[in-house]
Amino acid sequence: MRPILIAGNWKMNLSRQQAIGLVEELLLQVDHFEAEVAICPPYVYLDTISQKIGHTSLALGGQDVYFENAGAFTGEISCEMLADLGCQYVILGHSERRHILGETNAIVNKKAFAALEKGLKPIVCVGETLKQREENQTTDIVLEQLYGSLAGITEKQAEQIVIAYEPVWAIGTGKVASPEQAEEVHATIRQTLATKFGKVTAQNIQILYGGSVKPENSKELIEQENIDGALVGGASLKAETFLGILDRLQ
Ligand code: PGA
Repeated sequence: MRPILIAGNWKMNLSRQQAIGLVEELLLQVDHFEAEVAICPPYVYLDTISQKIGHTSLALGGQDVYFENAGAFTGEISCEMLADLGCQYVILGHSERRHILGETNAIVNKKAFAALEKGLKPIVCVGETLKQREENQTTDIVLEQLYGSLAGITEKQAEQIVIAYEPVWAIGTGKVASPEQAEEVHATIRQTLATKFGKVTAQNIQILYGGSVKPENSKELIEQENIDGALVGGASLKAETFLGILDRLQ
């Protein structure tokens, strides 16, 4: 059985003090749940939060990273820096990076290789816009992003990768995909992973759903056969709602 992973993407939110307060609240309860739990705070809080987390079961991740190891890349940070701060995960190809910052599949692919090389688990995000869904392009878009982002990745490397299906129209909008809509795409993703990496590896890859996940809808989504957890934005900014999601899965 694939373990459930609930990952919080804090995006560009919270003051330093609020971030510390949130992680302290999470740490009080995180051990009560069976699921794997990760948080992805803004880079500038990672060091402080990493020290708070210590060797507890709460995992840490970056929201993005650059693919070069070091050098003249103003404003960027490397996989080695994230690993050095205790990160286990890094989100790659989030739709906000794809759509606001022009990130391409080729860039996501380079970042995936760089992350794997430093022992970070990439959470590779894919998802269609509302227009693309209305034009029946969901499968084409999701598979194009999947193939492009994972180009050249070996079966062995694939074991370290997490996929997040996040329909763009569901992110931060309160419009969640129905469990059936999400499961349909997740099943397609898993079949594609099986073609690419073999059935056994595909069965072991966690595929998260993201887009307006909250305590009220998390259980019915994660009960679906091919949904192995959630990438949570807004609801990860408050201990009550983030822990509420975990609580509903018990
Ligand atoms: P949301 O964001 O939960 O606020 O919709 C999800 C995400 O962007 O990962």
